[in-house]
Amino acid sequence: MTLRCTDHLPEDVPKALDRTLQDLQLDYLDLYLIHWPVSLKKGSDVKNPENLTQPDIPGTWRAMETLYDSGKARAIGVSNFSIKKLGDLLDIARVPPAVNQVECHPSWKQTKLHAFCKSKEVHLTGYSPLGSPSNKRETEVLKDPILNTVAQKLGKSPAQVALRWGLQMGHSVLPKSTNETRLKENYDVFGWYIPEDLLAKLSEIDQERLVKGTYFVHENFGAYRTLEELWDGEL
Ligand code: A2P
Repeated sequence: MTLRCTDHLPEDVPKALDRTLQDLQLDYLDLYLIHWPVSLKKGSDVKNPENLTQPDIPGTWRAMETLYDSGKARAIGVSNFSIKKLGDLLDIARVPPAVNQVECHPSWKQTKLHAFCKSKEVHLTGYSPLGSPSNKRETEVLKDPILNTVAQKLGKSPAQVALRWGLQMGHSVLPKSTNETRLKENYDVFGWYIPEDLLAKLSEIDQERLVKGTYFVHENFGAYRTLEELWDGEL
C-alpha cells in the first residue's frame, strides 16, 4: 500500500495509514510506501497542477519511520524515486527504505537504478511489468517484436517472458489481472528459465519510460519544472 501525495504532511501520515488499516481491516501492513516524491494539498485533485506543493521528503520519512517503530508498518519504502532522490533519502534515513517500487519491464529496464538499489540493499519492485496494456499507450511492451520472438522460441506468452525476465533480473514483479486464465498464465513463470542468449536478445529492446509523471511537472507549481527534474535525468 502507498501513502498518497496528498498525505505527505508529517501529521497526516499516521492518519492515512490508520485509514488504510481500517479499510483493509488489518492491524498492520507488511509494507508501506511513499507513492511519489511529490506532494499535493490535502484532499486535492491530483490532476490539477495548482495543488502541487513543495515536498519535504525527510519530514515525511521521519513520520514513516515512526509508523515502522510502532509496528503498524512492518517495512517502509518508496516508489518512483530516482537514484538521486533515493540516495538523498538514504543519507538522512534512520530506517533505510526496504523497497523502491518503480516502473520496470523489458522496455524500461532500469539497469542503473537497479544496480544502485542493489549496492544499497534496497529491493527493486517492478510495477507495470507488462507495460499496463489496458492504458493504450503508443508503446505496447507485449507487442514488442523481440519479446515476441523470444516468447515463440520458448513456447511461452510475451507476458510470461516479461515477468520471467524481471524475476531473473532479481526484481519482484506486480502484474495485475482480473481474468482467471491470465492470472494462471502469470503465475506460470517458475521452473523454467530464459537462457543467456535470449536474455541478451531481450537487452536489445528499445527503451522508453511509459509512466512519465507528467501531472507532477509544472513551471509554476510544485517542485519539478521538467520531467528531467522529476526523474533527475533518468529518462
Ligand atoms: P486483464 O485484467 O484483462 O487480464 P500491468 O500489470 O503491467 O499494469 O498490466 C495490467 C494489464 O495487463 C491489465 O489490463 C490486464 O488485463 C493485462 N494483462 C494481465 N495479464 C496479462 C497477460 N498475461 N497477457 C496480456 N495482458 C495481460
